[in-house]
Amino acid sequence: MNLAIIPLSWVLVSALSLSIESPEGKNEISTENQEQVEKGLALLQKHCYTCHNPASPSHDEMLAPPLVGIKSHYQKAYPESKKFKAAMIGFVSDPSEEKGIMKGPMKRFGVMPKPLVPEEEIKLIVDYIHANQLEEPSWFKEHHKGNGNPNNH
Ligand code: HEC
Repeated sequence: MNLAIIPLSWVLVSALSLSIESPEGKNEISTENQEQVEKGLALLQKHCYTCHNPASPSHDEMLAPPLVGIKSHYQKAYPESKKFKAAMIGFVSDPSEEKGIMKGPMKRFGVMPKPLVPEEEIKLIVDYIHANQLEEPSWFKEHHKGNGNPNNH
């Protein structure tokens, strides 16, 4: 009676294909949210990339750590998406040394200045960061050698 194995292997196969399809949780976004995603990206570029600019030509020219690395730190510290978002929104709406988890960057750059962005927009930005693969500086993988690499956790 090996019929009993069939449901189990089916579950395994579908779990496997699911994890292949959504390495960055991309499937969380449905098409009706597309507008919000675009808004989130536009706000991110406008309010955050001034400092967290992934197009900075080298590590030394960054004004702030790249968000792709920050995201990977937050994912390790807060594996649950609700906590990830709450922690990031909490920090960004009112940055402080106590709330920050990036001790090295806070030392190197000083604590991030409070951005003049309404809470609603910060939420859209953080939703975007959480659900999407972020642009990565060209030097990022080399610099981190796997440490802080989002594909390596
Ligand atoms: C004026 C420059 C500047 C702007 C603008 C800026 N940041 Fe930052 N950010 C920094 C610096 C510098 C750090 C590293 C020091 C720190 O962690 O506070 C940082 C760190 C962070 C961290 C990690 C905090 C921690 O230590 O846990 C997050 C998350 C973050 N920024 C998100 C954002 C978002 C989202 C935006 C846009 C709304 C933004 N930042 C805009 C300079 C900036």
